[in-house]
Amino acid sequence: MSDILRQPAEVTWKTELDALAAHDDAPKPEGWALSPQATLTYLLGGAAKDGTEITPKYVGQRRLMETAVATLATDRALLLLGVPGTAKSWVSEHLAAAIAGDSTLVVQCTAGTDENQVRYGWNYAQLLAHGPSTEALVPTPLYRAMDGGKLCRLEELTRMGSDVQDTLITVLSEKMMPIPELNSAVYANRGFNIIATANNRDKGVNELSSALKRRFNVVVLPLPDDIDEEVQIVTKRVSDMAESLQLAVPKNAAAEVMRVVTIFRELRDGRTLDGKTALKAPSGTLSTAEAIAVMVGGLSQAAYFTNGTLDVDGLAPNILGAVVKDPVQDKTVLAEYLETVVKKRRDYADYYSVLSEML
Ligand SMILES: Nc1ncnc2c1ncn2[C@@H]1O[C@H](COP(=O)(O)OP(=O)(O)OP(=O)(O)O)[C@@H](O)[C@H]1O
Ligand SMILES: [Mg+2]
Repeated sequence: MSDILRQPAEVTWKTELDALAAHDDAPKPEGWALSPQATLTYLLGGAAKDGTEITPKYVGQRRLMETAVATLATDRALLLLGVPGTAKSWVSEHLAAAIAGDSTLVVQCTAGTDENQVRYGWNYAQLLAHGPSTEALVPTPLYRAMDGGKLCRLEELTRMGSDVQDTLITVLSEKMMPIPELNSAVYANRGFNIIATANNRDKGVNELSSALKRRFNVVVLPLPDDIDEEVQIVTKRVSDMAESLQLAVPKNAAAEVMRVVTIFRELRDGRTLDGKTALKAPSGTLSTAEAIAVMVGGLSQAAYFTNGTLDVDGLAPNILGAVVKDPVQDKTVLAEYLETVVKKRRDYADYYSVLSEML
């Protein structure tokens, strides 16, 4: 195992990508490492032509991934939108790994991101010594993606100011970026496109201007439809993460995933799974990603403190942390849920006692 904590997708899943590329005779857009069909197999799982198993990366509707992949083959860019924890960044990374063979050209957009971090910056020592020149120019991930015909990933696009977002308009419509200081421009090579992510539940976001919006095709990633799908996602990701963190997965992990996901879904939807009892929903999103984090936290506690026993004592504090984002309001919501629902369920007696004690 390498010492690097987390490798980019194209390294971690190299065997799968190589197997798909080796027998990829479907038509593919110029500049793409894999055909759209092979990209879809990589995302959704299946088998390569030589029999290599391709593990599913995204669990959900095939149609959404088809639209995402097809968009990247056009002159429009892709915007993955959704509440936190719906795998936007995850899908964006895998798309870039499969299509461009490189998922590392990322700009993390924040309120402090300025044009120099999007277009290009300057090495000031060089600039002062020799004046503006190509050597003094510091390329950004966007610049390098255009130059190398790759995909540039813009994480949380709506977090940066609208004026900075709008620098993308020329890049997306003319596929070039002027460099007035050098009286030149960088032209995008074939294979270049942009995948942006944005979440629609955040405070302090800057809406996209309509000029920019028109240049993106929006794919909304939903929360998992049914509980089986969500349990499948959590189980798979927890076992992947446990492996990379070298944590053992105890036998009862599957049953615990089921209980955690049940609690999360009921609170998120504001009603019990059987639809009979209405509940108040807490202020946070309680996404699949948080259910994964709760389980991984529990596994770590089990591995280092309780001799590998995964129980409610280890999981409940993580659940509490995920549910109670607003200390007053969410505590009431959770207390009500415990009293009206959890108390009556025999197989949740341990949750009832540990969580009520903690509240
Ligand atoms: N439908 C899904 N299929 C596969 N994995 C999923 C799915 N939904 C969530 N996940 C998992 O959830 C985790 C978090 O996803 P990710 O960080 O991409 O969320 P995000 O949408 O970018 O959230 P944020 O808005 O907070 O940035 C990933 O480990 C991913 O594997
Ligand atoms: Mg993200």
